[in-house]
Amino acid sequence: MLTKKQVQVLDFIKTYRAKNDYAPSLDEIRRKFKLASVSTAHYYISKLQDAGFLNKEHNQPRAVSTVKAKQTIEIPILGAIAAGQPIEAIEIPDETITITKDEIGQQGKHYALRVQGSSMIDEGIFDGDIVVVRKQDVAENGQTVVAVIDDNEATLKKLYRENGKFRLQPANPTLFPIYRDEVEVRGVVVKIIRNLESQLDQGQSRDEKYVRKIDYSWDYRGEKTKSYTHGIHTYPAMFIPQVGRRLLETYSKEGDTICDIFCGSGSALVESRLIGRNAYGIDLNPLAIVLAKAKTTPINPQKLTKEYLSLLDRVEKIKDNEIKRPGFKNIDFWFKDKVIVKLAKLKKAMREVKDKTIQDFLMVAFSETVRYSSNTKTGEFKLVRVKGDKLEKHDPDVIGIFRKHAEKNIAGMADFYKDAEKNSWTRIIYGDSSKDNEIKANSIDCIVTSPPYGDSRTTVAYGQFSRLSAQWIDVFEDSNDASGVDNDLLGGRATKNLIHTLSSGYLKESLEKIAKQDEARAKDVLSFNLGLNECLKQAHRILKPGKYFCLVVGNRLVKQVRIPTDFIIAELAEKIGFTCEDIIVRNIPGKRMPIKNSPTNIVGALEETMNKESIVVLRKN
Ligand SMILES: C[S@@+](CC[C@H](N)C(=O)[O-])C[C@H]1O[C@@H](n2cnc3c(N)ncnc32)[C@H](O)[C@@H]1O
Repeated sequence: MLTKKQVQVLDFIKTYRAKNDYAPSLDEIRRKFKLASVSTAHYYISKLQDAGFLNKEHNQPRAVSTVKAKQTIEIPILGAIAAGQPIEAIEIPDETITITKDEIGQQGKHYALRVQGSSMIDEGIFDGDIVVVRKQDVAENGQTVVAVIDDNEATLKKLYRENGKFRLQPANPTLFPIYRDEVEVRGVVVKIIRNLESQLDQGQSRDEKYVRKIDYSWDYRGEKTKSYTHGIHTYPAMFIPQVGRRLLETYSKEGDTICDIFCGSGSALVESRLIGRNAYGIDLNPLAIVLAKAKTTPINPQKLTKEYLSLLDRVEKIKDNEIKRPGFKNIDFWFKDKVIVKLAKLKKAMREVKDKTIQDFLMVAFSETVRYSSNTKTGEFKLVRVKGDKLEKHDPDVIGIFRKHAEKNIAGMADFYKDAEKNSWTRIIYGDSSKDNEIKANSIDCIVTSPPYGDSRTTVAYGQFSRLSAQWIDVFEDSNDASGVDNDLLGGRATKNLIHTLSSGYLKESLEKIAKQDEARAKDVLSFNLGLNECLKQAHRILKPGKYFCLVVGNRLVKQVRIPTDFIIAELAEKIGFTCEDIIVRNIPGKRMPIKNSPTNIVGALEETMNKESIVVLRKN
């Protein structure tokens, strides 16, 4: 369906093309419709592309072209429907929406309703969305229906028949189902249309210096995030590939050189390679470097499979007395003896793979095997040992785990090898982004990154997460150095006092509030922001003037004080020589974060887990 604004944008593109023989740029669209940013213009273009009104031509702003008109249909919006408690069904046809027939199928009569409430959020239906419903009075088990109960109360729920009754099931774990003997079905949902435009252009009317815009179109709820090499290894707080790609497509073009200054496992770098950007990635966690290299180095899948199969043969033949047990501290605490022997055999066979890129790629599956066969709780990012009965019964099938991961990884590589842009390159630098990493000044066309949410000790301990793998795969000369990584990351060493010259009112305010409760925690927060400020300066140095720097950040709670990291970055960056052009808020549907964190260090005291993050878009002056 096309909303009024989308129709206007489409008309503008058509007229512009007819006049100039090429399409308008994103910036021209932004100016024409007085949109807040080019990312909003990009949003309209992608919606028109998704609906089939514009061709997808590598998302080059000037390359969009209109396609032949599709068969459309006008559907009445009949009113509102409760996704929460049932409300009285109101049917006042006032508005219509236009939708292409392909989107809903050729059969049946349709109507649309505006959704109120949040009981269907797990089905991706949010307050303010529009649902298109096919009229019918029967539904299959599990379908999302418009149901009328108790005479005239309409609600939107999933319908199940059970023991002669009907269960109307909300898709929100905090709500209870409704049971009725009778339910009148008024139709089945065939399409959900996210209500974005009001949120996109209205912003917040708060008395803040910066404005956050909530934009559900950045959530990518339910979309596949493990395609290509994205799924070859778990890493904390990974980018959703769709977010990385959209930022790259909006703020850079094919052939550009981009950089991710906190590249982690390399998600943004994989995307940049797939859409023809050259890329630098920087990280200070050695395991991240291994992962990012493996994810972004295309390898012929046939060669890979051949080496993998002969490796499996070799492992079988290695005898127990031929292996070398690694000598790092506490190995027996984290691994059972049987497991150590199997892992050591795998490692020996792996080291015999002659082609180094293949060896490094297979090492990633080995690293996951180390995590899964260790005595740690695999659902945690910190190293926590399983206990009691569970530990006793722990008997992992080491080779089986390795095979499962290696085979899945090879399949991912086959897709990446096929689609990675052959003429683009990726360079991964092991370094500290708050320092000069030998990337030339004014050489980068776009920076897309996601910094840590805070210091490693009280947020995500990247070093701790990586430690056992890093020790097994020898990323350190002395494997006992692996425990020091977290101290070197942003905020790893608390400041001596709270005196600083950082120019951010938001930071000052947060520090004061936290220090009143806990001075040590305030020093951690200050240390993190001092480091981040140095990273912003380095980013400014390497970026070309007029180009974009996008940061996906979280506003964490410390001592029940919400730290507005997005606003702090905007303030610090504007002092350095950037302009803050946009702050977009997205929900985090799938980012792997600690489920419970207790930064207060009081057992049982939990601070909320982040479920929203901000995308700060800066432009170098
Ligand atoms: C949020 S994660 C990035 C995850 C990444 N986007 C991905 O998809 O895997 C933040 C990363 O910043 C890295 N980091 C922390 N301090 C750093 C510093 N001073 N220099 C470079 N990297 C740093 C951490 O090691 C971690 O990998």
